[in-house]
Amino acid sequence: MFIVMKAIARSQAVESLAKGRGAVQRGHRVPFIVVLTSLAVLDVAPARASAQSPPRGEPLCPAGIAPFASPLCAELVPTPDLLGVTGMLELRAVRSPFGVAVTADGRLRHRLVARIAGLPAPSSLGDYGAYVAWGYDVTMAGERRLGVVRDGEFDLGELPWERFRVVVSAERSSSATARRGRLVLRATSPAALLLAHRDAMGAMNAGAASPASPTASPTESPHVEHAHHAGGWPAPPNDARIAPAPMAHPPPSTAPWRPDTAGAEVREASARRLVDLRDGDTLRLTAGFVRRTIGSRTFVMYGYNGQYPGPLIRVRQGAEVVVRFLNAIDLPSTIHWHGLRLDNRFDGVPGVTQAPVAPGDSFTYRLRFPDAGIYWYHPHVREDIQQELGLYGNLLVMRRARSRVPVHREEILALDDFLAGSEGAYPFGADAPSHALMGRFGNLLLVNGEPSYRLQLPTGSVVRFYLTNVANARIFNLRIPGARLKLVGADLGDLEREEWVESVVIAPAERYIVEARFDAPGEYAMVNAVQWLDHMRGSVRPAVDTMGMITVGRTAAHPDLGASFATLRSNRDVQEEIAPFRRFFDRPVDHTLTLGMRTTGLSPAMVAMLVGVAVPLDWNDAMPMMNAPLSGKDVTWTLTDERGRENMDIHWRFRVGDVVRIRLRNDPAVTHAMAHPIHFHGQRFLVASRNGVPNDNLVWKDTAVLPAGETMELILELSNPGDWMFHCHIAEHLGTGMMGLMTVTR
Ligand code: C2O
Ligand code: CU
Repeated sequence: MFIVMKAIARSQAVESLAKGRGAVQRGHRVPFIVVLTSLAVLDVAPARASAQSPPRGEPLCPAGIAPFASPLCAELVPTPDLLGVTGMLELRAVRSPFGVAVTADGRLRHRLVARIAGLPAPSSLGDYGAYVAWGYDVTMAGERRLGVVRDGEFDLGELPWERFRVVVSAERSSSATARRGRLVLRATSPAALLLAHRDAMGAMNAGAASPASPTASPTESPHVEHAHHAGGWPAPPNDARIAPAPMAHPPPSTAPWRPDTAGAEVREASARRLVDLRDGDTLRLTAGFVRRTIGSRTFVMYGYNGQYPGPLIRVRQGAEVVVRFLNAIDLPSTIHWHGLRLDNRFDGVPGVTQAPVAPGDSFTYRLRFPDAGIYWYHPHVREDIQQELGLYGNLLVMRRARSRVPVHREEILALDDFLAGSEGAYPFGADAPSHALMGRFGNLLLVNGEPSYRLQLPTGSVVRFYLTNVANARIFNLRIPGARLKLVGADLGDLEREEWVESVVIAPAERYIVEARFDAPGEYAMVNAVQWLDHMRGSVRPAVDTMGMITVGRTAAHPDLGASFATLRSNRDVQEEIAPFRRFFDRPVDHTLTLGMRTTGLSPAMVAMLVGVAVPLDWNDAMPMMNAPLSGKDVTWTLTDERGRENMDIHWRFRVGDVVRIRLRNDPAVTHAMAHPIHFHGQRFLVASRNGVPNDNLVWKDTAVLPAGETMELILELSNPGDWMFHCHIAEHLGTGMMGLMTVTR
């Protein structure tokens, strides 16, 4: 039933590639290889699951789901003599305070559930008394007994690998401790079904480079851009950890854009400064050009008030302040105050709450701060350019009532990445975002704009880190090996209960507040620990990037906060505030949003290259040569509601005081599914459940990430009147239309 076909399309691109891997001729947006991963791909569109999510209690993987259709489903395939037997392996959610449960090294955790039907009596196959399931790594090593199975549904627990195989065998006895009997069913994890582009390339790939060290930092990789330029675009920068694609990528469908400083003042940037604002105060905030030195290279970028990040604005909960914004960059801009439940007129959304502020113009924002927490501000025009070039800053809103538990130090950290090219920033799309597939991942990781964050502390210090992900597209898995981490808060305040975590999974625009204690003198690295995907090789390998170093000296911190840090607190005030919302958790679903995408104008061959099993969550740009040239003209990311309305055709209407249940489903059957951080403006919500698993530790959020193939339910409180956007916070997805609108009236 499942057929893999490979065909080579003889096109001009093939010939130019064979001659030396260069010069794609303009007008030939045709890759040279047609990869047909299944018959379904023959008519280009892969089989699509229904646009509606299944009601609760329905299986994650419906019988008959197409192979490759979901990163959470793997068919248990019977041996040919047992064709009446059917089986499905589901990768079910594991509880986590984050959008996805991962191990410390960034491996996605799942609980395996097998659903099997039609098994004959074991004795009918020979001298057998039971069926037993076993788990292995992809090389069939590391055998683990997972338990006895029959017809029905069986929880097989977790396996310690991202990519694995499961085998069901007939055994003499149900207590078999090693597999001896005959094979009955077998499955391969979806992440290992990934179609390696290398495999597809066959002989064409003979010249691919040998693998680089998976732990090399991207900051060490050479910023070599390929010699050829397509329509003025340099080829995407090399990533030493991705096999170079020996392929002619299509010329981008939009012209390259670089900041134009003609006639403008370009100041040397300085590090962020703290601005304390009191009720009634006014701050002038100017977006302008800056010269930034990152590592040993100099870039022309943007900055608010010449700083990186923009000024750290500290206010008290309940205060009101004025910000006079002056736009001194070469693009229209606005400021969006992310997460604030502010007056709608000052939300900064062009075409919805205000006109874009033209270069040289200004706009006055009046801000109010009903909720304590960590927020951030950024433009809401071409975020893919403006945010990437440095326009972002944090707002710390201090609690009016209860003060926080004492710590020795507070650090407000903006986590970012930046895509450097050989001359300045790698260019942007002129009239539509480039990197429209995966989003723009950087080749430099930055903490508060610096490639190597540094902190010096006395021994025993307890530090409260306020983390904000300001990257265009990258999800971080942040760790500090050797230091214990306590998760205390997120977007709009504290969790119901503090909990210990091994790492922090933070998607674009999310915030998390963690406390760490440094028990012993020494050097502690702050790292991004992920599983690095390479579409060319079809490999997933651990990768660790150091983002900063924390040096702990011999002197002891005073006072000793060891006992206080060791205590996990329950926040009664948060629980009491959330309690009245629990009755809404079971109300009928008010709206559904299906997250999806489509491509336009790409050849079927190109589309076929983009297929291949998606992982639920991409930690890196696994196919930069495909991603960079695709613009918003080629790719449209979509939100579709229950009435079939798409993106800005969606216009939900609510009344102030409504509390609604919204179900989001991330369709895995689209050409290239990936995780999306979804943000609602001007309101707050609770993530009530993920994949049907209720959330037992709630916190008010404004952004939540949904991995491919998964479902989450939000309880959205409509407390703030006005016209508000909701959208994916990957800048390039927003830039290709992945947004909708809601109006809240009094
Ligand atoms: Cu920070 Cu409309 O987003
Ligand atoms: Cu998205």
